[in-house]
Amino acid sequence: MTTPWFKDAIFYEVYPRAFYDSNGDGHGDLPGLTQKLDYLQALGVDCIWLQPIYSSPLLDDGYDIADYYNIQPQYGTLEDFKHFMAEAHRRGLRVIADLVLNHTSDQHPWFQAARSDPQSPYRDYYVWRDDPQHYQEARIIFVDTEKSNWTLDPVAGKYFWHRFYSSQPDLNFDNPAVQAEMLNVVKFWLDLGLDGFRADAVPYLFEREGTNCENLPETHAFLKHMRRFVEENYPNAILLAEANQWPQDLRPYFGDGDEFHMCFHFPVMPRIFMALARHDASPVIEILQATPAIPEAGQWCTFLRNHDELTLEMVSEAERQWMWAHYAPEARMRLNLGIRRRLAPLLEGDPRKIELANALLFALPGTPIIYYGDEIGMGDNIWLDDRDGVRTPMQWSAGQNAGFSATAPEALYAPIIADGVFRYQEVNLTAQQAQPDSLWNRLRGLIDVRKAHRAFGWGSLRFLALTNPSMFGLVRQHGSELVLAVHNLAPEPVQSVVAWADIPAPAGQAYVELAASGLTVDTGAKGLTLALEGYGYAWLQWEITS
Ligand code: NOJ
Repeated sequence: MTTPWFKDAIFYEVYPRAFYDSNGDGHGDLPGLTQKLDYLQALGVDCIWLQPIYSSPLLDDGYDIADYYNIQPQYGTLEDFKHFMAEAHRRGLRVIADLVLNHTSDQHPWFQAARSDPQSPYRDYYVWRDDPQHYQEARIIFVDTEKSNWTLDPVAGKYFWHRFYSSQPDLNFDNPAVQAEMLNVVKFWLDLGLDGFRADAVPYLFEREGTNCENLPETHAFLKHMRRFVEENYPNAILLAEANQWPQDLRPYFGDGDEFHMCFHFPVMPRIFMALARHDASPVIEILQATPAIPEAGQWCTFLRNHDELTLEMVSEAERQWMWAHYAPEARMRLNLGIRRRLAPLLEGDPRKIELANALLFALPGTPIIYYGDEIGMGDNIWLDDRDGVRTPMQWSAGQNAGFSATAPEALYAPIIADGVFRYQEVNLTAQQAQPDSLWNRLRGLIDVRKAHRAFGWGSLRFLALTNPSMFGLVRQHGSELVLAVHNLAPEPVQSVVAWADIPAPAGQAYVELAASGLTVDTGAKGLTLALEGYGYAWLQWEITS
């Protein structure tokens, strides 16, 4: 079993198509990403989540795989991948990649064979029915595009099952051959040195009549089988689950430490945005209190944004409406049950708020993952379709945008951003690296601090009752290290006393200020009086000597 290095790591999500274009063809690529490894090292991240790089018609940006064993030509070659891995490892960076188990592209040769020949061994790789009346309790995920989870294939003359776009037929996990194929895929990439996988859409692998076809026992059994295979053959590799579920349904994905090493904590994410907008941490506190304990060697993966819409599936209908009204006032900002905007525009481009949101994320239990570009407060482009608006080119400098050619073939790579505030001429890495107090430099500092203090990744969690409701205080403790983290969720200055009794440190014992923004502290007999400016925060650390 791997040492749980991931428990106090920082992850970084890269969309390779938009990260760095090394040859000016309008597509980011693996050689470009390799050139930017020094950058990721300078930022301080430990592990890269590489989004799909496999051969694909790109109807779902690579989550529609046509060949699991090859690289999409615009992104490079297998040799480029090997070189990228070697260069990442040389710098001490780990890399996990997407593992798309649930479905393939309809362009995959398995589906092409399956649809055209009922006798083909591949027919049973997919889920076919004569009519679309089955599994009626399964929800539709892409509600804006799909009317049903069944589509009639004109070639086969039968309906096939799909949880996502109709160009992504679901694989039939009841077929042992499919399970074996997927373990081969796992083997192939881990043999090339990959450090693990972010496993896509894991709740949906099996279907059973009379259920909602999510989180089924058969699905967990296969995932445990996959973990055993990984554990036995690649003990240092990790598995991270994408399961957009409520805490009680997420918990089983850790198993008894024998399923996933990590799971994204989907429900906490929208609640961080609720807390920021309402100046009240209760939604975050409530969901964390409702989150079951996980195995010691497991870890949550926490995030503010990613390449998808900000999903509002794990909130109530009333909360969803509230989030839409507050954060997505225009119809084109909404997609499916979510919001297709980036972090900076969601937080009005206010660097104090963006820094606070990150500080809060970092102070919570779990391993944070940063979505590329959010570290500089990059904007979005709501005029692009689907989720493309949050997948625009990384804004490296005020000059050529991300190395992407100005004559790039696709709108995706045209010079972007409707709202002038977020133009790459103004918001770019080069400019921020030159300013000591820029968002990038401030986040870089927070990353260093988080990694240096085990209380964040390993520590217990206790919420502090503070007199001012817009102040969110938490105590993280691991061994003799205690970190007090207090955040002001409101734009107005606030003040509160943290009693010595709430910090199990002897009264008056000196603390270290690990990080802060807009903070004044007054040490008194009763406790610490913390004054925070609007959106300010403080991380204070004690070594408990008692
Ligand atoms: C989840 C991925 O994050 C999303 O981008 C994709 O469209 C679906 N799974 C289908 O693979």
